[in-house]
Amino acid sequence: MIAIQRKISHIKSNLNLSEMLSLVKAAASGWLYISLILIFVETLFFFGSLYIMKLLIDTVASVQLHSTAATADIIKYVILAGLAGILYFVLRSYSAYSIEVLSTKITEHINEKVHERAVALELSFYESPSYYDTLKRALDSGYDKPGLVVTSLIDILKNCLSLAAVASVLIVINWVLLPLLALFIFPTLLVRLFYSKKLNALRIAQTPFERKSSYYSNLITTDTAAKEIRSYGLGQYLKEKFTAIRQTLVKDKLAITLKRTKLEIITTTLSYIGVFVSIGFISLKVITGETSTGDITLFLVAFPQAFGLLQSLAGGISTVYQNSIYINSIFELLQLTNGLYKSDQPESIPGGDDVSIELQNVHFSYPHADKEAISGINIKIPSGKIVAIVGLNGAGKSTLIKLLCRLYDPTTGTIKYGGKDIRMFKPEEYKKQLGVVFQDFNRYSFTAGENIFFGNIENSYNMEKIQDAAKKSGAAVFIEAFPGAYNTMMGRIFDDGEEVSIGQWQKIALARCFYSDARFLIFDEASSALDAVSEKELFESFRERIGNRGAVIISHRRSAILHADYIYVLSGGKIIEEGTDTFLMQNNGAYAALFNENINTTEAAY
Ligand SMILES: Nc1ncnc2c1ncn2[C@@H]1O[C@H](COP(=O)(O)OP(=O)(O)OP(=O)(O)O)[C@@H](O)[C@H]1O
Ligand SMILES: [Mg+2]
Repeated sequence: MIAIQRKISHIKSNLNLSEMLSLVKAAASGWLYISLILIFVETLFFFGSLYIMKLLIDTVASVQLHSTAATADIIKYVILAGLAGILYFVLRSYSAYSIEVLSTKITEHINEKVHERAVALELSFYESPSYYDTLKRALDSGYDKPGLVVTSLIDILKNCLSLAAVASVLIVINWVLLPLLALFIFPTLLVRLFYSKKLNALRIAQTPFERKSSYYSNLITTDTAAKEIRSYGLGQYLKEKFTAIRQTLVKDKLAITLKRTKLEIITTTLSYIGVFVSIGFISLKVITGETSTGDITLFLVAFPQAFGLLQSLAGGISTVYQNSIYINSIFELLQLTNGLYKSDQPESIPGGDDVSIELQNVHFSYPHADKEAISGINIKIPSGKIVAIVGLNGAGKSTLIKLLCRLYDPTTGTIKYGGKDIRMFKPEEYKKQLGVVFQDFNRYSFTAGENIFFGNIENSYNMEKIQDAAKKSGAAVFIEAFPGAYNTMMGRIFDDGEEVSIGQWQKIALARCFYSDARFLIFDEASSALDAVSEKELFESFRERIGNRGAVIISHRRSAILHADYIYVLSGGKIIEEGTDTFLMQNNGAYAALFNENINTTEAAY
């Protein structure tokens, strides 16, 4: 985890060209070569048209009044310059198209890769603020930034080639022009480069605040938060916090932009002075006969081209720099690797019915936490048995489930499945052995049927099994009452969606778990939103509902765990008591206190 942190915090603000190139090659190598060939040919025609213009101007300048000797040459050059110009424009259109295809392909490639990575990353990344900063910057880039940078890089190359063409024309006029112009124009380039770097550094520093302001904005604008925000009247308070952050962010950015603008005014003035110094220089050379009026005309044709090219070169360079931070975030994201142990020679999942799960002296601390959430736990979940885990809030129950599901690995100790360390299995194979209803289960804006089908997408959509799972969880009653039954869209995000109550969503989550083919089912507070009747029904015939599978139930209500074969009482990450309900009640220890306490408090309240 420390390694990840270091990787994320060490974000490079320079462009990593070799990575960029391999990315472009992976995305669309064919189009890269086509684009490069087209811009070379295009530049060749640009140079050709300039050169013919020079010949034309030379011819025109040397024409004697009323002489027709040069007529044929003039017509020839005009036609050639026209043809070269037309071909240059045609090629330019094709090369623009090929660059557009290239950048679109890169964007799509990145889009796919970022999502592939986000899916593959383990849970711990989602609990790290620095990962979120990287993800935010990567997402902020809108995936089109790499395409934009490639386009800008190609533009830079094109501008350099065109500049070389123009420079060769300027050299023909007088070689001094080149260093003279460079001297006056370089400060503009340097200023742009310097401030692009400065803005990048600012952007990196601002990401956590950007994220905070997005969070406030989400709270203000999303439907899920709308109820509480209105009831407690938090809207204005959150809006003020949002505005305060935005104002600071904007102020810092504008301060840099203002400095850049001031300096740019100076350097651009310098460039204009450079132009006039150059014009003055070659004009004076006319007196000594070193330059002709034709040269001055050519200078006036070529110079605006050179100036425009330099301007767009500077623009291209600053675009590349400004976006390199986003691109590096994408690279950082793509390079993040999971820290969970992966066996080179994975073992196959043990078959047969008699498979149990065992936790042996398991310890676990969350990344960045200085305290253990689980301390030396030994638990056995035999095949086909129902095991319950109870304990106060924060005792470590959900953490235990995350370890069981291999969302994290224990810091020390072992979890065994069928006698084998679960780290020896392929994670995806092992995860199929467990069906889970998490305390904070997901509500998918998909059809009711799909919501259940997500419990086992390995096999094809099986309507009969879906109905059966919905019956077991109690969701069938309300789903089948919808006109579209299992094809009804759930939630309000999409058109014609049906919103149901929290308890009904929980029944759908339960159905999803029942639908899975897993050998063990895990229920973390899975009946917390169910009404008393539904909960009683669920647990009274629980064994029938889960079939011959093993189960882990976590609940704060005794009715849910009463029928468990074995109960563990967890406190401060340790097992402090274990046994059956009858035994634990007779024992009159922590378990009895946990449930009797409710009665006493309730009685006391009356
Ligand atoms: N993602 C996390 N990162 C760091 N610490 C965590 C994280 N989740 C939980 N903890 C810590 O681990 C301890 C156990 O949390 P856990 O969620 O396992 O409790 P629980 O027994 O499920 O409680 P509840 O009954 O409220 O669901 C808590 O004290 C909490 O501070
Ligand atoms: Mg919990």
